[in-house]
Amino acid sequence: MPYTSDFLIIGTGIAGLSFALKAAEFGTVSVITKKNHTESNTNYAQGGIASVTAPDDAFKFHIEDTLSAGAGLCHPEAVDLVVRNGPQRIGELMAWGAEFTKEKGSDDAATLSLGREGGHSRNRIVHAADLTGREIERALIETVQQTPRIRVLEHHVAIDLITEHHLRDKAQERVPGTHCWGVYALNTKTGKVEKMLASATLLATGGAGHVYQHTTNPAIATGDGIAMAYRAGAAVANLEFMQFHPTTLYHPTARSFLITEAIRGYGGVLKDHNGRPFMIDYHELEDLAPRDVVARAIDREMKKSGHPCVYLDVTAKVAAETREHFPNIYAKCLSLGLDITENHIPVVPAAHYMCGGVVTDLDGCTGIEGLYACGEVTCTGLHGANRLASNSLLEGLVFSHQAVQHASQFIAGRSRSVPPDVPDWNEDGTFDSEEWVLMAHDRSEIQTLMWDYVGIVRSNARLARAQRRVKMIAEEIEAFYKKTVVTPDLIELRNIATVAALIIDSAQMRKESRGLHYTTDFPEKDLALGKQDTVLRN
Ligand code: FAD
Ligand code: SIN
Repeated sequence: MPYTSDFLIIGTGIAGLSFALKAAEFGTVSVITKKNHTESNTNYAQGGIASVTAPDDAFKFHIEDTLSAGAGLCHPEAVDLVVRNGPQRIGELMAWGAEFTKEKGSDDAATLSLGREGGHSRNRIVHAADLTGREIERALIETVQQTPRIRVLEHHVAIDLITEHHLRDKAQERVPGTHCWGVYALNTKTGKVEKMLASATLLATGGAGHVYQHTTNPAIATGDGIAMAYRAGAAVANLEFMQFHPTTLYHPTARSFLITEAIRGYGGVLKDHNGRPFMIDYHELEDLAPRDVVARAIDREMKKSGHPCVYLDVTAKVAAETREHFPNIYAKCLSLGLDITENHIPVVPAAHYMCGGVVTDLDGCTGIEGLYACGEVTCTGLHGANRLASNSLLEGLVFSHQAVQHASQFIAGRSRSVPPDVPDWNEDGTFDSEEWVLMAHDRSEIQTLMWDYVGIVRSNARLARAQRRVKMIAEEIEAFYKKTVVTPDLIELRNIATVAALIIDSAQMRKESRGLHYTTDFPEKDLALGKQDTVLRN
């Protein structure tokens, strides 16, 4: 028997879980996630959530900062929506039990402590020390577990969205989806593919950091949602804008560990291997310049010096305060033999956040009826060419709220019923391949190609080389996929290849440098391109 519910949600990060809690007011909810429920980018968020709560702050400042980071490509209506709804959505998060750090010694014991990150003109980052994401996940999961209408299924990997295409005879020509009724998902405990049907489906699958060799993202971030939506016929946009976080720990065994930007907000200074602060050479905001500027500056310093990293110096601050503000980073570094209150922290950039994704409107609707998307998987227009730090958790909250309002109306309407003739997953003609060895190196090959040729600095020649190679690998993977019993590794590999190819295509279409996309062949912004998103459709 297929699983059937009113709402099906793919992903247990901030977007999926906050949607689930609200959707449960309107119907039954199934949530699937590919590992255990806490494995998400959300769980690893450090810095916090940007929102206007301080008396010296105002919506217009947060809006201006977001637009300025976005380098002319933000959609002002999306920015306005997210910023103005921030305080209310954060209030809900607190009502669900999230506890954020309070200001010490304030008259009002409830006053939130507010951090500062790059590109923000005010202190406005609501946080739970340097473990904000873990606190948010805890609160959301606990509330979900107390909500009887929500069923969470762990270890279910969504493979593909169910659209009209699946109702047609396989021999017929492929049609892009115009309506979505759920997904096929691999239950990794039983090895069986299950048909999961719903009147409204939400993609909340997060980011795509693992398309690159070095990333801050946990293993789940393989771009599955972007690839599934693209295959189903939804538009995807702005995939050239992968954000590289400037500071992850440079260490042989802990390279993907994030050193939060809040450390620079707190007074940390980036220095070269001679101990010279270098951000003054690159931007008037120095260490608090927008992320794209800082990541490029570090890349340049490393190339100039030939040194494998730069350093973040927080030793001038009071040691006890550093330990109190950043207990997680302090403990992690200490466990690796580095006391950050006494030593400079070696850091390098890594792929961090996908600013582009599945195109949605202000209600979280994709172009496919019954398919919604929220969170990092989307391109809502909020981030433009570069996301302002700590705007993404907020985006997930605001758009899941919007999407629930729309989806609840939608399922109450006529389109509610799921067609009876959705076929079961068809494994005919596939076999358990002993040739998996042919694919085993493809994942790291793609990741290395993307890091070397489609990274912080790009060029026509690098992109063309990456395109040729990734295209060939992607075709081989697709051919292998069609004749092989599906496995979690193969599902992810196929998606990584698809998203890598889409990032390269998008980067080639953008013949200018803007925000996170920098190419030596077109080093300037092209004002004529103005506000054009890079949109791709299957
Ligand atoms: P996620 O939280 O990534 O959740 C995705 C979910 O989808 C997971 O449950 C995953 O298992 C599931 N999934 C994926 N594919 C499938 C599939 N095929 N089948 C089934 N399930 C699937 N942003 C901020 O605003 N502030 C910060 O301080 C901050 N710090 C960060 C620190 C780190 C280290 C990282 C990695 C990111 C940080 N970000 C921060 C970014 C932010 O955490 C993410 O953008 C945000 O959490 C994304 O939420 P989400 O709900 O969209 O996706
Ligand atoms: C960080 O804490 O530096 C990450 C914040 C973000 O990615 O928004």
